[in-house]
Amino acid sequence: MRPDIRISADGDRLARDVARAIVERLNQPLVPGGSRSLCLAGGQTPRDLYQVLATEYRDTIPWPRLHLFWGDERYVPPDDAQSNYRLVRESLLDHVPIPKENVHPMPTNLPDPNDAAAAYEQTLRERLSPPWPRFDLVLLGMGSDGHTASLFPGSPALAERTRWVATSRASVEPRVRLTLTLPVLNRAALVFFLVAGAEKADILRRVLAGPSEPVPYPAAAVRPEDGRVVWWVDQQAARSLP
Ligand code: 6PG
Repeated sequence: MRPDIRISADGDRLARDVARAIVERLNQPLVPGGSRSLCLAGGQTPRDLYQVLATEYRDTIPWPRLHLFWGDERYVPPDDAQSNYRLVRESLLDHVPIPKENVHPMPTNLPDPNDAAAAYEQTLRERLSPPWPRFDLVLLGMGSDGHTASLFPGSPALAERTRWVATSRASVEPRVRLTLTLPVLNRAALVFFLVAGAEKADILRRVLAGPSEPVPYPAAAVRPEDGRVVWWVDQQAARSLP
């Protein structure tokens, strides 16, 4: 099946196009007392998106019925400049009326990151009913090596089929990471990839080439069994697409 690709003129339009689609998803009818689960991406691309959500859509998102989770985290303190939690706090959480109990960052304060991964899995089990968590929406970025979340090419975490959260090692600092595993990502109802910039053009072409591309890039492995993937890209990143 052909990938669903939405091309925006530039990074600013991309942030606005994705924000509008997120708000539309979050405002779909809910059962009484229900809530929505949104899993956030790290890295730099989503910063503008989070700022648009915190400003233009501050008053149209049902914050009390929204629970925020993270798809991955660098194993650094939450106030570290490289923390994905800090990125979201500065660009979104500090500006919107979301109840504190609705925000579920990955813990990075335990001596052993494997214990942190297990603790986060417990958080997910408490909030999202087993046997597997089904996020209403997962936001993902993609590195120029085809990694997504903190699932890097060749990472043992890619082979994880039972744990919901795993540790992984990045090739760049901070090397120790926590990441949702593929079985969790592939049970999402909806996945939005955000890819921007000319440096992502080649990898985007390869990842979207599907079976014709023999290299198993982690981002290409995100194919929800009972869900949809939408690739939100800017023109720079899309320039190598057929
Ligand atoms: C992280 C992210 C990672 C990111 C890609 C793209 O913690 O770094 O989860 O998967 O989405 O590396 O990063 P940019 O958006 O900064 O290009």
